[in-house]
Order: sequence, then structure tokens, then C-alpha cells
Amino acid sequence: MDHTILVVEDEKVQLDSIAGFLTKLGYRVLKSSLPVAALDMARDQAIDIVLSDFKMPGMTGVELLGALKQMNPEIDVIIMTAYGSVESATEAMKLGAIDYITKPIDLHQLKVMIHHTLERKVLVSENQLLRQQLSERFSFDGIVSQSSAMSQVLNIAGRVASSNATVLITGETGTGKELIAQAVHFASPRRDKPFVAVNCAALSEHLLESELFGHEKGSFTGADRQRKGRFETAEGGTLFIDEVGEIPLSIQVKLLRVLQEKSFERVGSSLSVATNVRIVAATNRDLEAMVRDGKFREDFYYRLNVVAIRIPPLRERREDIAPLVDLFVQRIAAENGKRITGVSREAMDKLMKYAWPGNVREFENVVQQSVVLCRNEIIITEDLPLRVHELHSEQEFFVTMTGTFLEKVKAYEKSLIVAALHEAGNVQTRAAELLGIGERHLRYKLKKYGMK
Ligand SMILES: Nc1ncnc2c1ncn2[C@@H]1O[C@H](COP(=O)(O)OP(=O)(O)OP(=O)(O)O)[C@@H](O)[C@H]1O
Ligand SMILES: [Mg+2]
Repeated sequence: MDHTILVVEDEKVQLDSIAGFLTKLGYRVLKSSLPVAALDMARDQAIDIVLSDFKMPGMTGVELLGALKQMNPEIDVIIMTAYGSVESATEAMKLGAIDYITKPIDLHQLKVMIHHTLERKVLVSENQLLRQQLSERFSFDGIVSQSSAMSQVLNIAGRVASSNATVLITGETGTGKELIAQAVHFASPRRDKPFVAVNCAALSEHLLESELFGHEKGSFTGADRQRKGRFETAEGGTLFIDEVGEIPLSIQVKLLRVLQEKSFERVGSSLSVATNVRIVAATNRDLEAMVRDGKFREDFYYRLNVVAIRIPPLRERREDIAPLVDLFVQRIAAENGKRITGVSREAMDKLMKYAWPGNVREFENVVQQSVVLCRNEIIITEDLPLRVHELHSEQEFFVTMTGTFLEKVKAYEKSLIVAALHEAGNVQTRAAELLGIGERHLRYKLKKYGMK
């Protein structure tokens, strides 16, 4: 192991004890009790991680962080803060610290943190290398990745699979988040162990907690026997936390602890259970915005977002449409005992132009409907659902439009409303439901856009 860690701490005893601990773990360790001297060291030597105190004479940890990052953005800085001063930790994270640890330092936690940071570093540099390579080294059967955006997604998924790093998959509804989560699992050394999914949107706060961690008999009314949680079911494998943006703050704290300490407690028990589970989380929400609004814990967000995989919407990768047609037509025709060889050129044209607000899932449903309706060996325009071929003017407008961001957003919103109204057979209550907004809100939008 030839990783170098620089420890900056003005208290001599602390400095020696931390440096001693890290040396024993096999790292090359540099010490400095003065931030200015630390800067000099970082200038002269290759350093992977700087572990710095927050309050020091001459320069605060945050100032040191800024100077280090300016010198070499690749250096990862972990800040040590006094217990309870979360603001300073948050400030440090905003300025680019990779992590923070509170004093008194828990050496086990420090060890895990350093390990994670180095693991992530290796991944990041591998990813950079990967972007330069065009060859597809990992093939995931049954996942269409004709577009460069999607093949990049698979590349990252393939690379990250072998590690234990936490993965955060983001993307609109139906883009294939769960599919990629499974791909990560089955390409990982954990493939023979369980892949367990938990959908956080479907469960109340109380149920979610016992679903995740299990509970002891009698821990709440109705808990008539001990029950294992998903963490225990997934032991040795992968836990897929779906809709992670829906997790209430109180449970975010608990999950954060599991990520940090690799152990948890069942509801109604104080016994700590060790866990070896790889976490893959997914969301269609903007977690960074939620952090800003105080709806998602910043520290939890950073723990989840060790490796980020963003799946672009289907309308941004239209090269995938033709191979998706092939895949789904073949599969669904076989399931329905039909012989269908493809789609007409005109129908293909419609499929290419439609905006696909529901992404690949919507696409699959459309193929499904068309296969059922199809009377020949080829799917024609008339076999496609109305919304796909009637919406042309709106869709083209959205797809091809140039203009300001706000104009595009409005155009997109309009096309979504039209699509929802079609889907709902013009029943406004139903359309509002599909869009996830209130009926009054929908009526307001219709009026605003002069739609009838
Ligand atoms: N690239 C792809 N190739 C083949 N099939 C795909 C691809 N992407 C998605 N699918 C299929 O589309 C459907 C939706 O995918 P999935 O359930 O993974 O989406 P999701 O992002 O989790 O959606 P949601 O946000 O609604 O939960 C699944 O049947 C999946 O197999
Ligand atoms: Mg999903």
C-alpha cells in the first residue's frame, strides 16, 4: 500500500496518536503541526489525503483546504471538527472537503473513512481513463446501450461493481434505475448473495424503519414476533434502496449510521448487529436541491453519492430507440405468440420523435399495446397509441426548440400536459393524477397556456 496521508494537527499528543495509528495500518504518513508547513509539504510531495484539524493557529482548516485545493484539486481533504460544530463541517464540505470526522476521533471510523476515500479515488481515476477508451469491456445482456450516454452508464456500472462503494443512481421515472442497480449487483462478487430491494415511497416512516432494520417481538403493537429486516435478508449481498429521496429525516440519520459504522439495531433492541451489505440507492428527485431546502441530510447525501450514475432520459439518447424496438418487439411478440418482424418506417419515425416522458417503461408499454393491436407482421402507425402519433407538432416543438431554458421548460410542461390528457381520455382529474399535481393546479396551467 503506497498511499500517503498528511496529518495536520496543532496538538502534539493527538497528532502523534493519529499518525501512529495510520502508520500501523500501512500508510505512508507525514505529520505537521503548522498549516503553513503542511502547505509546503503538499507542494513538494505526492499526497493522497490530508487529514486536517479545524481550529489551528495561523490558518483554519477551511483556509488550508482552500489553499490545498487550489494547488492540487486531486488532494482529498478530511476535516476533523470538535463534537457538535456541525456548521464548520458543513462549511468544509461545501468548499470541497471529501468528508469530516468529529472529535474525539473514533479510530475505527477513521480507518473506514480513509479506506472509502482511497477506494473512491481509484474509481475516479479509473473512470477518467475509461472515458478515453471506446471499447465496451463489460457487456450487460439485455440492456440496450447504443447511445454513448448509455454505454458510459454501463461502463461505470461495470467498473464500480467489483468494489463495495455506495452507488447513487439518478434519473427520471422509467429510465432503468432498478435495471442498472441489478446489473451492478450481478456483475459484482456478491452476485451469488441476495439482491434485496426496498421501496421507500411505499412505506410509512414507522414501517420503513422496521422493514429496513427488523424488530423484536413486542417492540410495538402488532409486533407479535421477531422479524428480520431487509439489511439482514440482504447480508453479504446488495440492498437496493429505491426512492431514497422519500426517506424521512429521522431514518436518514439511522441509515447514515449504518453506512458509517456498518452496524444497526433492530427496532426495540439495543443490541448492535454487524452488517456486510452493499448499498445501491436510486431516486428521481433532485437530492442536492432537497439538501438546500433542508429536506435531505447533507452528510447522508455525501455518504450515498460516493459513485454517482446518472441515467439520461430517453429523449436525450434517441440512438437507443431502434435497438429498444428490436428488443421489445421480439420479446413481446414471442410472449403473445405472434410473428412480428418490425415496425414500418412511418411508425418508427413517430417513435423517434415522441418525447417519452415515461422513458423506457412507457416505451415498453407502447410496444406492448402495439403488438397486441398489430394485425400484420409489421407494426404500423395506426397500431401505436394516439398520443404517440397525434402529438407531433407539440413534440417536435419540444424536441427541436432552441431558446432560453425557461422557454424549453414551458414547452416541455405543455407537451407533458397534452400527453397526460390523451392518456387520461381528456378526464382532467385523471390527467392531474398522472402528472402528480392537483386538479386546480392543472386547470390553472391549462388556462395559463391557453389550452382547451
Ligand atoms: N437500457 C435498457 N435496455 C433494456 N430495457 C430497459 C432499459 N432501460 C430500462 N429498461 C426497462 O424499462 C423498464 C423500466 O426500468 P426500471 O424499472 O429499471 O426503471 P426505473 O428508473 O427504476 O423507474 P422508476 O423511477 O419508475 O422506478 C424495465 O422493464 C426495464 O427492464
Ligand atoms: Mg424503479
